[in-house]
Amino acid sequence: MLAGGSGTRLRPITHTSAKQLVPVANKPVLFYGLEAIAAAGITEIGIVVGSTHAEIEAAVGDGSRFGAQVTYLRQEAPLGLAHAVLIARDFLGEDDFVMYLGDNFIVGGINGLVERFVTERPAAQIMLTQVPDPRQFGVAELDATGRVVGLEEKPRRPKSDLALVGVYLFTPDVHEAVAELKPSWRGELEITDAIQWLIDRGRRVESSVISGYWKDTGNVADMLEVNRLVLESVEPRVEGKVDDASELIGRVVVERGAVVERSRIVGPVIIGPDVQIRDSYVGPFTSIAAECALAGSEIEYSIVLPRASISGVRRIESSLIGHDVVVTPAPSTPRAHRLVLGDHSQVQISS
Ligand code: TTP
Repeated sequence: MLAGGSGTRLRPITHTSAKQLVPVANKPVLFYGLEAIAAAGITEIGIVVGSTHAEIEAAVGDGSRFGAQVTYLRQEAPLGLAHAVLIARDFLGEDDFVMYLGDNFIVGGINGLVERFVTERPAAQIMLTQVPDPRQFGVAELDATGRVVGLEEKPRRPKSDLALVGVYLFTPDVHEAVAELKPSWRGELEITDAIQWLIDRGRRVESSVISGYWKDTGNVADMLEVNRLVLESVEPRVEGKVDDASELIGRVVVERGAVVERSRIVGPVIIGPDVQIRDSYVGPFTSIAAECALAGSEIEYSIVLPRASISGVRRIESSLIGHDVVVTPAPSTPRAHRLVLGDHSQVQISS
């Protein structure tokens, strides 16, 4: 399980925290992957971690909550997906293994893929999906019979619209390939180059085009989209306090210790533990994490991380708001925006 990386596309969130821990319906995206791996019967999990190792370790612990034993593998710098395999060499030993990108979200789990791999046991098995703009992905070229003949990482001129999904299955053959790799033009050891190495030497590389839902949650738009998808099937539940002047419509979860007063919540929405919502509107596809406060505000289609406070703001949409962020109205004179924004923040102002 790869949970290092630099996460440049999710800055500034990733300046201070791991992107794999950004919550989807108030659960870290990484946990969905760990659950999928454990559900496929794989219980020895090595998690590759980088500069955010302490936060990942605190969140995942020894893996027992997933029914697995977790070993942490420290990668000194994000030198590529194949570099992650290289540093995991001793942990992996002579075992076949799944490599799962910790920020990827796949509906339907990986049981079927693992079963097929165990039966057919090619040197590598990759998953592909059609995407509108392949330039941001690893891209596969197939021949007329569907065999993989070439792979390229984030190509400037893609040869197909088939992107690699972030789950790979390997036999120990891949270690031979990884050991011989040289860094690519972007300075990383590319897993696509390792698989290409196997193809070039006539080793069997199987692929399947998946029809199910998949997203790399590496940027804000995709993160919000995955959050929407997961919230759509959330079971309504109210454990916090909702006063008589408030209205909950549709699939709404209000966790323990949360307080909702004089507010309108239109689901699907999840409101985390100890959140306070007063005189506000929370619209569809919004996740509000623990201990946030919302007063006199409107928010929709957004993810709010723990302890953020939003007051007097109409209205927030399509936003990812970090831990401990404070959003308040400015004094009315002079009419001005007052901003304290971290490096690489992105703000769109509607006035
Ligand atoms: P990416 O999203 O491809 O890379 P990144 O995390 O550096 O992000 P960005 O492109 O926004 O800068 O990585 C996929 C997953 O693999 C992600 O969970 C991070 C992890 N990873 C590692 O653990 N080690 C690495 O060396 C790299 C490149 C990624």
